Amino acid sequence: MWNEIDQHMQHWIREAGERIRDAFQTKLKIETKSSPSDLVTNVDREIEQFFIERIRRTYPTHRILGEEGLGDTLEALDGVVWIIDPIDGTMNFVHQQRHFAISVGVFQDGVGMLGYIYDVAFDELYYAQNGKGAFLNGTPLPPLEKTTLDRSIISLNATWVTENRRIDPNVLAPLVKKARGTRSYGSAALEMAYIAAGKLDAYMTLRLSPWDIAGGMVIVQEVGGVVTNLYGEPLNMIEKSSVFVSKPGLHEEILAIIQR
Ligand code: IPD
Ligand code: CA
Ligand code: CA
Ligand code: CA
Repeated sequence: MWNEIDQHMQHWIREAGERIRDAFQTKLKIETKSSPSDLVTNVDREIEQFFIERIRRTYPTHRILGEEGLGDTLEALDGVVWIIDPIDGTMNFVHQQRHFAISVGVFQDGVGMLGYIYDVAFDELYYAQNGKGAFLNGTPLPPLEKTTLDRSIISLNATWVTENRRIDPNVLAPLVKKARGTRSYGSAALEMAYIAAGKLDAYMTLRLSPWDIAGGMVIVQEVGGVVTNLYGEPLNMIEKSSVFVSKPGLHEEILAIIQR
């Protein structure tokens, strides 16, 4: 069953990417949601609808959780559930026309089975099947090796090291000082894909939704990366939570610093 779903999804996600690239030739309808920095466009909704139509036609018993709310309302993850972020990094999509991705995870009874992150502008598809390896455009991604903070690039949003209502900036400051470098790409999905591909070593953020991380979680775990919340606990894929993704070894080193 999973091979068959994967074959469909490989076609659907590339077709969705083509639609997004075509949309660059049209005028986007841009709206704000909860705040001026929380953007949504007609393309976010159209791409979510594109996946929903195909999934419902092919797998009518599967359920769908999508960021733009066009799928089902879920209270639990029993059965097969598709968790979809049609465009992760909408701000980048609108302002930069790059550094955004389609992110999809397919879960069975809460266990991640398939994960996809498609970097549309670069035409790079990261994907994994539980137990069958992770790939970038068909090339296997090697297992992640242990590393240490002083040799690592860590990704986090600059607001978390300024005065904010979620975390004491003094908790994260020692990390930023000790790391080899910091980055902030503005797409949780791509930041997870980069960890899986060894381009980044850790990523942490204080509040994400299941659709931001569902695809990435399957891909990162498949290459031996660690995905938890900022307390080192497993993630619950039905609620918002903090997220901490890292290469092995580095995960323990960073947790020890932020829990000091
Ligand atoms: C956002 C991106 C961003 C993260 C935000 C998310 P969206 O997703 O992943 O990197 O910092 O918290 O909401 O709204 O562009 O799909
Ligand atoms: Ca959004
Ligand atoms: Ca997102
Ligand atoms: Ca989104």
